[in-house]
Amino acid sequence: MRKQVVAGNWKMNKTSSETTELINTLKDGINTEEKEVILFVPAINLVQAMELVRGTNISVGCQNIYFEDSGAFTGETSVKMLTDLGVKYTLVGHSERRQYFGETDVIVNRKVLKAIENNVTPVICIGESLGEREQNITFELLRSQTKIALKDVTKEAAEKLIIAYEPIWAIGTGKTATSDQAEEACREIRKVLAEIYTEDTANKIRIQYGGSVKGDNAKEIFSKENIDGGLVGGACLKAEFVDIVKA
Ligand code: PGA
Repeated sequence: MRKQVVAGNWKMNKTSSETTELINTLKDGINTEEKEVILFVPAINLVQAMELVRGTNISVGCQNIYFEDSGAFTGETSVKMLTDLGVKYTLVGHSERRQYFGETDVIVNRKVLKAIENNVTPVICIGESLGEREQNITFELLRSQTKIALKDVTKEAAEKLIIAYEPIWAIGTGKTATSDQAEEACREIRKVLAEIYTEDTANKIRIQYGGSVKGDNAKEIFSKENIDGGLVGGACLKAEFVDIVKA
């Protein structure tokens, strides 16, 4: 049985004082053993967020990492900086990083390998644009994104990582994929995972859906066979996130 994982991607939102306020508001409602709950806060507030969730089952993650251990890479965050704080998760390849910061599948793969090398769990984001969906190349794209992201990742390491299927046209648009569209894409991703590894391994890997997940659609989406929780943007900054975790 795969344990569902519900994560909030705070993006570039919340100051330090707002971070305290939001985590304190959500904390009791999202502290559960039934699901894994991760808050991807801005890097500058990681230390504080770790402190705020201490003693709960809630985890904190970083939104991005660099693939080198240290050095002259102004503005970047290394995985070692995360492990030193006890941070165990990082997003990799979010569509906004691909779109605005030029992140390619090859860069995503290097980041995935670096996270794994340091025992940090990558949540690898993949997904198609509206144009790609309209051209009917969604599956092809998901296949190649998955394969490149997982190049040189061992079976043992793959079993622990998380994939987030996020159709770009559904991110921040209020336009959610239907639960059938989401399930179909996640099923295809699992099929590719079975081809790369084995069916057994594919069945252990958790695949989240992301893109306008809300309190009122989470339950239906999360109930699908191949969907193991969600990656939530906008709605994770509100009390509504509690309903999503409970969905
Ligand atoms: P959204 O964002 O829930 O606001 O659509 C999801 C994401 O970008 O991870």
